[in-house]
Amino acid sequence: MLRELNVSGKIFQLSRTMHLLKIPIIPKFLKQLNRIIFSCDIPYNTDIKNSVMFGHNGMGLVINKNAKIDENTLIMQHVTIGANMGKFRVVDGKKITAPYIGKNVLISAGAILLGPIVVGDNAQIGAGAVVTKDVPENGVAVGVPAKVVKVLNKNEIKEVLA
Ligand SMILES: CC(C)(COP(=O)(O)OP(=O)(O)OC[C@H]1O[C@@H](n2cnc3c(N)ncnc32)[C@H](O)[C@@H]1OP(=O)(O)O)[C@@H](O)C(=O)NCCC(=O)NCCS
Repeated sequence: MLRELNVSGKIFQLSRTMHLLKIPIIPKFLKQLNRIIFSCDIPYNTDIKNSVMFGHNGMGLVINKNAKIDENTLIMQHVTIGANMGKFRVVDGKKITAPYIGKNVLISAGAILLGPIVVGDNAQIGAGAVVTKDVPENGVAVGVPAKVVKVLNKNEIKEVLA
């Protein structure tokens, strides 16, 4: 882990661990605690790796329970990562309905990622972007609807949690 999790991240990871241990009630309570304190809605049964950081304590962050978020990704405030009217597709033999986000991805403030899309490792999503299509590994996607404006080369890739 590159950075220590902030409070909302710790509350989420505790809720997820308790859910995986099949401990009742407490995960729901912890989810509501994050909701009350930080106005974020992060279901305890979402597959979010434990190094994922919620910038500004996840203020206004909403994540669908079927999303998947890999290690060392940074998600800024007021981001939505959600489903899109029941759209689905099959990725690696699995039906997906919400974004799958890779490692070391930056999801900037106010971005909205919708539906069964895949965001590759090291990608960067611009502030305020609305992303409804896949973003390739190392791709930088900005705007509404989001377009990939560049693909970072090896020297341009940064650790977003450094
Ligand atoms: C996506 C981002 C990381 C890309 O940064 P970058 O690699 O330095 O990109 P550049 O500044 O070279 O921009 C590339 C192009 O995309 C455009 N662009 C960049 N960010 C954009 C955005 N959020 N929305 C629309 N267009 C954007 C630039 O104007 C530029 O267009 P041009 O080539 O026509 O001039 C950055 O622009 C961004 O959105 N950061 C937000 C970080 C954040 O959330 N901060 C909040 C902290 S509280």
